[in-house]
Amino acid sequence: MKLPLLALCLLASALTACRRADESGAAPAADGTLGLPPLTVPHAAVPSPAQVELGRKLFMDRRLSYNDTMSCAMCHVPEQGFTSNELATPIGFEGQSLRRNAPTLLNVAYVQRLFHDGRENSLENQAWGPLLATNEMANPSADHVIGKIKALPDYRHMFEFAFNGREADRETIGAALAGYERTLLSGDSRFDRWHYGQVKTAMNSNEQAGFCIFSGKANCIACHSMDKNNALFTDGRFHNTGVGWLAGTEKAMAMRAVQLAPGLRVTMDERTLQSISEAASSDAGRYEVTHNAADRGSYRTPTLRNIALTAPYMHDGSLATLEQVIEFYERGGKDNPGKDALLKPLHLSTGEKRDLLAFLRALTGDNATSLAVQARAAASGGNTIESVRDLAIEERGLLGKP
Ligand code: HEC
Ligand code: HEC
Repeated sequence: MKLPLLALCLLASALTACRRADESGAAPAADGTLGLPPLTVPHAAVPSPAQVELGRKLFMDRRLSYNDTMSCAMCHVPEQGFTSNELATPIGFEGQSLRRNAPTLLNVAYVQRLFHDGRENSLENQAWGPLLATNEMANPSADHVIGKIKALPDYRHMFEFAFNGREADRETIGAALAGYERTLLSGDSRFDRWHYGQVKTAMNSNEQAGFCIFSGKANCIACHSMDKNNALFTDGRFHNTGVGWLAGTEKAMAMRAVQLAPGLRVTMDERTLQSISEAASSDAGRYEVTHNAADRGSYRTPTLRNIALTAPYMHDGSLATLEQVIEFYERGGKDNPGKDALLKPLHLSTGEKRDLLAFLRALTGDNATSLAVQARAAASGGNTIESVRDLAIEERGLLGKP
């Protein structure tokens, strides 16, 4: 007997991950974390509210760069899903462009291997990378940054309040920034409410069909993986999709309009750009870390949470829209000697691509806007020495310490 196609798909949904997690019993969380795994950080790394508030202020502060122009938030823009939407690869110190796209910092607390090539595993250490990189915030040394922060009147006593009497130093600056980053948790998307929260109406029929394609016919789930009770949509591993092999012309087109700072744009000719940019083609991906030939052109599988907010896509920002990403996978990625065997032409219909897109757009967390608003409040003086001191006092009270 031949089953009609629809019945087959329904049968498949009943048997595979495509179905909602009806038996999981996950209760909707009120704090924006529905669908996220429990966070396991070493106890010492659990940030206190005062540390978070200090970290947020540091994150937003342009004075952390050598010439007072560049903050973390200028590449990881809070309103742009904590990445940069305008540019394939962001512009750092004095207009120098970086070779890779800025990853979102939403849910970075779960990332075990940081950067597109996984070369770092501690958020505390990572923060010192951009602070000292000559093409990012360009400080000559850690001591320079520490001395500068100590001399800024608005930071006076803030570290002591947040870190039990300790001053600004290499560790406390790293801990404050990392502590803040670990609070950028964003689950509770419409998908989470449908799948884990069991709210039948949270996703419409196109989005539901899109999930079926994601976890079935297109097999995106093989790398952008999910667990029974939660999902990060990444296997945390490295794969060669062929993005690094895309035609250089597309990258060149994307780089012509250059943003020096928010609101400040210039157009540069190709030659000038080449002279100040690192050549994108010099990127060997995971190979740069392992020196294993099989890792050439492999990059970390990114999360797909909040994906609608974090264009452009891929390690080099070479795909501007989610439609382009879907077309890329439709073709089976870009052929090259090391391409992952999982990637094959998908033969999706126009309707299936539309549904897959609708599903990806249902992965935006409800609190993404409020996290951006909180960050901006810090930038405009929202966190002050008084608020950090009050938090520190409140905390000690809660902990029963003097
Ligand atoms: C000039 C732009 C720029 C600035 C400024 C900047 N970053 Fe980044 N950030 C990037 C880029 C690009 C990457 C990816 C680099 C790579 O993978 O090689 C990145 C990666 C990261 C990552 C790793 C995320 C992941 O998913 O692996 C973290 C965390 C991070 N930045 C935090 C910060 C902090 C904290 C600051 C401020 C102290 C900062 N960044 C300043 C551009 C920037
Ligand atoms: C073989 C593993 C694999 C499969 C299968 C796969 N992906 Fe990916 N995906 C990756 C990797 C690795 C990257 C990062 C590539 C890069 O940075 O160059 C990525 C990147 C992406 C991005 C860009 C994320 C960002 O923040 O830049 C999107 C969107 C995406 N994939 C969606 C999909 C969809 C939709 C499917 C199914 C049609 C799919 N992926 C199938 C491994 C995979």
